[in-house]
Amino acid sequence: MSQQREHWSSSFGFVLAATGSAVGLGNLWKFPYITWENDGGAFVLVYLVCIAAVGMPIMLAELLIGRKTQKSAVAAMREAVGPAWGLVGAWGVLTGFVILSYYVVIAGWSLRYFAMTAGWTISGLPAEFDLGADFAAFALSGGKQVGLAAVFMAVTIGIVRSGVNHGIERTARVLLPVLFVILLLLLFSALSLEGSAEALAFMFHMDFSSLRLESVLEALGHAFFTLSLGMGAMIVFGSYLSKRDSVVKAGAIIVILDTMIALMATAIMFSVIFSVPGMREQVGASPVGMLFISLPELFYTTVPFGNLLAPLFYLLVGFAALTSTIALLEVVASYLIDEHGVERTKAAIISGACIFAITIMASLSLGAVDGFSTFEVFDGKQGVFANLDHFASNWQLPIGGFLITLAAGWVMTREATEAELREGGVPGWYSYGAWRFFIRYVAPVAVGAIIVAVIAFGVDFS
Ligand code: TRP
Repeated sequence: MSQQREHWSSSFGFVLAATGSAVGLGNLWKFPYITWENDGGAFVLVYLVCIAAVGMPIMLAELLIGRKTQKSAVAAMREAVGPAWGLVGAWGVLTGFVILSYYVVIAGWSLRYFAMTAGWTISGLPAEFDLGADFAAFALSGGKQVGLAAVFMAVTIGIVRSGVNHGIERTARVLLPVLFVILLLLLFSALSLEGSAEALAFMFHMDFSSLRLESVLEALGHAFFTLSLGMGAMIVFGSYLSKRDSVVKAGAIIVILDTMIALMATAIMFSVIFSVPGMREQVGASPVGMLFISLPELFYTTVPFGNLLAPLFYLLVGFAALTSTIALLEVVASYLIDEHGVERTKAAIISGACIFAITIMASLSLGAVDGFSTFEVFDGKQGVFANLDHFASNWQLPIGGFLITLAAGWVMTREATEAELREGGVPGWYSYGAWRFFIRYVAPVAVGAIIVAVIAFGVDFS
């Protein structure tokens, strides 16, 4: 190939783009509700330990494989690890395909709730509006579900086709700072509520008696999802990183920002919920619906400056989702570009269109079409959407992550990984020996435990 590979314009641009990939619905939607379901406190602590002990080492492993080879997932694994390991890269591409196909459905919801709350801000909260019933009707509307997902997918394709610098990096440079500012505004407003003390106590009280084995494993599974690990996304992003930049420093910043944003989002939502009598019970009945069923109205009734913050909040959800859908599509598109020489625009459109074929089924599986809604591969998982999410979170990410730890810790040589991590400089706290210990022993044992738990006990992470 004669064309020069595109690179991030700077280390900062890379950090923003990779943080954009990591920060998404996992932080704003999934983390708050699983923290709720697992009774906060001890679960949050276990999650933080998983991020540090498993997430951080695998983050560096993926980044170093990408940066070393300057190739996307399949070619990078083949070249850095060995010919057969290209299959692990291909497994990652398939994972990106699956996650994006259903992720974009929820991403589309952010558009609807943005429009709805913007309307309320202008003309006032309608009297007698039942958000639960409204949501149920929305889920059943096939046209709305497919339409919103289509809009979101089209925007994603448009950005990926513009390339690494002009598409992905530029989008992240604009959206991430906006996202951060909105989050801070929300945080200030929410922390002024009377429920905030109770919210923080819920998140940080350390009651280990309520911690179950499943919670530990769920925390571990979520650490993968939220950091975009286990499917080669960070290999692809690392492949656009120049040799002058520090992999270790960038990796640490991404992990810290992602974790901070998940905790901030959770503090915001719980502060609001704990400030309204009776809301705790209502959310308890359906924690999954916290973001779209319980929260919208509370902005108008409870949150200071809520009528301005509500549309901003759903804009934030949309922006966070978009910087993730871009990264997911890039994993698939970059495979076509690097492996099959497909031109970028074509690659973005072809991969987006193929993924969207599955999206149609997922978006019609929330009640609109019977056959899709009752479709069941995994026991107790009803509908295409639920089965895709289950397959990705329970099988694809843990298996991919496990193989990547083996590749980086056991197959690649010490010399190769040590030199690559050092290239571009390392921060003062860096210790190669510590990384190697975690990637060889701690991470594979922990991830292996998830896989065994899924197989032996049928524990569910989705
Ligand atoms: N990290 C994203 C989130 O928290 C979801 C995700 C998983 C992802 N794997 C990815 C995003 C790969 C981009 C690329 O919402």
